Amino acid sequence: MKIAIGCDHGGFRLKNAVIEHLEKRGMEVKDFGTYTEESCDYPEFAQKVAEEVVAKNYEFGIVICGTGIGVSITANKVPGARAALCHDTFSAHATREHNNANILAMGERVIGVGLALEVVDTFLGAEFEGGRHERRIDKIAEVEKKYYK
Ligand code: RB5
Repeated sequence: MKIAIGCDHGGFRLKNAVIEHLEKRGMEVKDFGTYTEESCDYPEFAQKVAEEVVAKNYEFGIVICGTGIGVSITANKVPGARAALCHDTFSAHATREHNNANILAMGERVIGVGLALEVVDTFLGAEFEGGRHERRIDKIAEVEKKYYK
């Protein structure tokens, strides 16, 4: 499985822990920055990850900032991105099963590393259920079409 990951300074340490964890699990992880703890702007990194995922260069994306909110808002501006902010395992599998989320957002200042890694594993291990959920995903795409010219 190929994963794109990105963060700002607020998510830098958690991002490194996630990369180490996924690489140990044999996954291919591409780090789109930031690469230091120096203050930076989260939209740059969230946008890159979302674009790569929507282009299907990576199966899933993971974006991390202090709260997870800034990166999730940004990623969701890229048409085709469905970024879900999850700090619990129920949301992590539900958003894959129901929303077909393709990007996981988390906040380093909100969640501990142990739970975050469980959230990551749960998200990546769950499958979209399709059926009635497919229709709802299509309606999200209709909203995008209406507002993105
Ligand atoms: C950076 O201080 C912080 O604002 C950022 O990491 C994030 O939490 C924004 O949503």
